[in-house]
Amino acid sequence: MYRYASSVLFLASVFAFQLSHGTEVTVKDKDNNICLYANLMVNFSVSYDVADNKSASAMFELPADVKTEGSACDNTSSTLKLDFGEGHSWSVNFTINGKKYQADTITFSYNLSDATVFPKSVVNDTETVIVKAPQITDVSVGTCYSCKSKDTIETESVNQTLWNVLIQAFVMNNSTSKNITSCAADVPTTPVPPTTHPTTAPVTNSSTAAPVTNSSTAPPPTPTPTLPTPTTGKYNVKPDENSTACLMANFGLRISVKSVEMNFEPNGTTVSGSCGVNSSQLVLTSNAMTIILTFTNDTKKFRLHALNVTGKTSSGVVFSEVNTNLSLWEAAVGSSYMCNKEQNYTITDQLTLYTFELQVQPFGVKKGLFSTAEDCQADAENFIVPIAVGVALLVLILIVLLAYFIGRKRNMASSYETL
Ligand SMILES: *[C@@H]1O[C@H](CO)[C@@H](O)[C@H](O)[C@H]1NC(C)=O
Ligand SMILES: *[C@@H]1O[C@H](CO)[C@@H](O)[C@H](O)[C@H]1NC(C)=O
Ligand SMILES: *[C@@H]1O[C@H](CO)[C@@H](O)[C@H](O)[C@H]1NC(C)=O
Ligand SMILES: *[C@@H]1O[C@H](CO)[C@@H](O)[C@H](O)[C@H]1NC(C)=O
Ligand SMILES: *[C@@H]1O[C@H](CO)[C@@H](O)[C@H](O)[C@H]1NC(C)=O
Ligand SMILES: *[C@@H]1O[C@H](CO)[C@@H](O)[C@H](O)[C@H]1NC(C)=O
Ligand SMILES: *[C@@H]1O[C@H](CO)[C@@H](O)[C@H](O)[C@H]1NC(C)=O
Ligand SMILES: *[C@@H]1O[C@H](CO)[C@@H](O)[C@H](O)[C@H]1NC(C)=O
Ligand SMILES: *[C@@H]1O[C@H](CO)[C@@H](O)[C@H](O)[C@H]1NC(C)=O
Ligand SMILES: *[C@@H]1O[C@H](CO)[C@@H](O)[C@H](O)[C@H]1NC(C)=O
Ligand SMILES: *[C@@H]1O[C@H](CO)[C@@H](O)[C@H](O)[C@H]1NC(C)=O
Ligand SMILES: *[C@@H]1O[C@H](CO)[C@@H](O)[C@H](O)[C@H]1NC(C)=O
Repeated sequence: MYRYASSVLFLASVFAFQLSHGTEVTVKDKDNNICLYANLMVNFSVSYDVADNKSASAMFELPADVKTEGSACDNTSSTLKLDFGEGHSWSVNFTINGKKYQADTITFSYNLSDATVFPKSVVNDTETVIVKAPQITDVSVGTCYSCKSKDTIETESVNQTLWNVLIQAFVMNNSTSKNITSCAADVPTTPVPPTTHPTTAPVTNSSTAAPVTNSSTAPPPTPTPTLPTPTTGKYNVKPDENSTACLMANFGLRISVKSVEMNFEPNGTTVSGSCGVNSSQLVLTSNAMTIILTFTNDTKKFRLHALNVTGKTSSGVVFSEVNTNLSLWEAAVGSSYMCNKEQNYTITDQLTLYTFELQVQPFGVKKGLFSTAEDCQADAENFIVPIAVGVALLVLILIVLLAYFIGRKRNMASSYETL
């Protein structure tokens, strides 16, 4: 009896599983060819404010019925934008990089005045959260990214759970590919892939010992031993051992110092630092170097203000480079700064910093999670431009009004005089 019951249950669950098809869409380019395909499931959990300073949470799924009008493709970037319900939307943007493509950010907007989803909300505007797309990277062009496993992306007020994801960006020849790039979570964990190069490999001194003379023509050849992309480290500073983080930083780091390029190795790095009201510090000590990042808070914005990098290259050259007058990674206090793409910063004439998948929040971290991110990329400007235009218009209107009233007063005064 029990056995029957359990097999019926099993069948039922298989059936239910097959019923849930998720959201399937295709996007076409200007020539009416398929350029983007997605079939995925997303659950949202949103906490929002209700009366009496309380908060409620709404759980809902990305419906099968979505609109893709806001989506667009071109040769190097594309956007999947799914509009649903009463003014909600979920979008991902993809960029291509050589033979690979990746998702950069996920933007989720929800309309709090939609009372069927957010009953009793005291706020009635539309909120937007932007997060880094976690796993969808290094997907070979001409293959589909597939991830059956659940992946939850948490922010302060929104959790997004993605699963049964099948996506192909940059579709070629109007047909989606059967070749799959699976996410790490779907791949059974067996042998450790032979990825990272041993750190103390014999240094081929071709690059460092730049040999002698002026061969009259050629400028000094820039050493390009093409290092692998550095591992992204996750560094948290806690005020004390039992608290959640007060400073969070995720990044992969490479430095070029005295013409030697080195990747910063997160494994084995000790993290320390401090959180203050006006200044916070992150100190990273690896075998090769010590990096001190000092952030300042000027009430509205934070920035990376000082950077101190000391260490030794693999060929034994000691370096110590400091700049205490920087203004990098600026964002509003209470948010985080994010830059997925590789960036380079000239810190001193001897030191250049390269960052990969950067996200930092040196102030106002709540519950050990990053707050809404201010993206360094062009999309950030898209928000700023309309705001700037709006402010400019407002100022213009005020000036016109002022001029009108002053003019009227003058007129009235002069008409009294003529009387
Ligand atoms: C809500 O919080 C504010 C300040 O945080 C307080 O002044 C107000 O009395 C609170 N309202 C209720 C109903 O608790
Ligand atoms: C997604 O949400 C639906 C209903 O809201 C729920 O039945 C399902 O278990 C959720 N799935 C996950 C993976 O959280
Ligand atoms: C938000 O929801 C309200 C109520 O359903 C609706 O009237 C409004 O048009 C929606 N906003 C947007 C931007 O769609
Ligand atoms: C939104 O809220 C403001 C005040 O909180 C209110 O005046 C306005 O009518 C509301 N709008 C909608 C569409 O509910
Ligand atoms: C897809 O798979 C087929 C057969 O396994 C292979 O010949 C082809 O090169 C693959 N295409 C890509 C883009 O990897
Ligand atoms: C998101 O998930 C975490 C961990 O499961 C939970 O503590 C938090 O309350 C969730 N947040 C929301 C908005 O659902
Ligand atoms: C190298 O070139 C610089 C300027 O071009 C010149 O001053 C210097 O003497 C040259 N050195 C040798 C070793 O030729
Ligand atoms: C952290 O918690 C442990 C046990 O919960 C306690 O023994 C320890 O004193 C706490 N440390 C601090 C700094 O509060
Ligand atoms: C970190 O380094 C230790 C030894 O140095 C090694 O055993 C471990 O596998 C490394 N972990 C990762 C994630 O590379
Ligand atoms: C930033 O500085 C201002 C003024 O110095 C302070 O009021 C505020 O609390 C600081 N913010 C954080 C998150 O520490
Ligand atoms: C930079 O850090 C080193 C130790 O890591 C320290 O000795 C030095 O004084 C620092 N320089 C500045 C200007 O803070
Ligand atoms: C630094 O970045 C700029 C664009 O952001 C790029 O044009 C330049 O090639 C980069 N320099 C190096 C050395 O990577």
